[in-house]
Amino acid sequence: MRRDIVHPGAGNLTYEIREIVAVGRQLRDLGVEMTWENIGDPVQKGETPPDWMRQIVRELIDEPLSWAYCDTEGVLATREFLAAKVNERPGGVQITAADILFFNGLGDAVSKVYGQLRREARVLGPSPAYSTHSSAESASSGYKHLTYNLDPYNGWMPDVEDIRMKVKYNDAIAGILLLSPDNPTGAVYPRALVEEIAEIARQHDCFIITDEIYAHIVYGGGRLHASEWVGDVPAIAMRGISKEYPWPGSRCGWIEILNRKRDENFSRYCDSLLAAKRLEVSSTTLPQMSIPRVIGDARYAAHLRRREDLFERRAGEAVAAFAGCDAVVANKPGGAFYFTVMFKDGILNDHQTLPIDNRAVRQRIEQMVQGVAPDKRFVYYLMGATGIVVVPLTGFQSEHHGFRITLLESDDKKRAWILRTLRQSIDTYVVA
Ligand SMILES: Cc1ncc(COP(=O)(O)O)c(C=O)c1O
Repeated sequence: MRRDIVHPGAGNLTYEIREIVAVGRQLRDLGVEMTWENIGDPVQKGETPPDWMRQIVRELIDEPLSWAYCDTEGVLATREFLAAKVNERPGGVQITAADILFFNGLGDAVSKVYGQLRREARVLGPSPAYSTHSSAESASSGYKHLTYNLDPYNGWMPDVEDIRMKVKYNDAIAGILLLSPDNPTGAVYPRALVEEIAEIARQHDCFIITDEIYAHIVYGGGRLHASEWVGDVPAIAMRGISKEYPWPGSRCGWIEILNRKRDENFSRYCDSLLAAKRLEVSSTTLPQMSIPRVIGDARYAAHLRRREDLFERRAGEAVAAFAGCDAVVANKPGGAFYFTVMFKDGILNDHQTLPIDNRAVRQRIEQMVQGVAPDKRFVYYLMGATGIVVVPLTGFQSEHHGFRITLLESDDKKRAWILRTLRQSIDTYVVA
């Protein structure tokens, strides 16, 4: 090209969760039976949304308007329904339908939210980080994503002092991102902690982004939304139906803009989000139309509770599988459907292996592990030896080494096999 056409942030767009699939496919072609534990898609892992929910979608197909474009912001009746839900929360921030904006999945919302920020305005996010946020922030700023620590020795809770210091001494930071329940750790932050983060944002005139895609998968109750803890701090709360119905294929997510009028600059930035959306006309009409009928259905609360109980039981199984394993930290998640296993410092080295019988597979793995991070080395050997595909923790912008699995496998026997095999593989690997 006579001009360099590559965006300066292009190299920062990485997504280990799917990139690992390419490696897994190569091994599958060499005859390994793969078990995909990398993607958070409940439907692909065997969950069927309840029949009553599917019936609502069937009925919508017969409504001609569900085939039409909708307003750029999203279907008005749905935004009114969702705004009313926000306003029901006792003592919370009040919004209107105009503060809700639909996107083609939260992935799209994330890319627009960072993409519309001024390049110099940075958002501080957690480490380990969910790659969609960290990559999008980094690609739009053109710099490495700025992070605060989640502490593995404190249940993966945010290090609030780290946030305070970074925000105080780096005035490029305009926003603070948090995810609760978190991906990849499954940690759920208590109210006092998130209120402290809101207070830091208030003191330093920053806004908050909260990813609440798992907000209705909290074990043992205690769901908490940003509208209940941000006070008067301008914020964007991100919600979606991918994980909740679950309907990831609907590509339907939305943002709730909180305290928009508190800051003129924040308000203009929110206007630019809508202007960017206008270029595309609108988002997915039919899934949006389903929201008041599904979330407003009397059966929905029980549906959510059943799933919360289910994932809590599976989280218990996962923790039990690693009991007594001194090489790792395996905190019990408080929500969502992920489980992160962290290797303690000094446990991994660059000559550990797992036995792989198939010679071609072994040779392929030996080539692949050259020069990779130690946890990725473990993940590759695990894939070659057992076919289980997990995501290395360093793929989540983390200095800690480890891996993330999901709690989604719906076949009880298979899930037990996965956990048993992971534990045995770690025991074998770390002594090798
Ligand atoms: C924390 C988090 N945010 C956003 C998304 C994207 O969700 P969507 O399917 O709405 O694009 C995911 C998907 O895994 C996620 O884990």
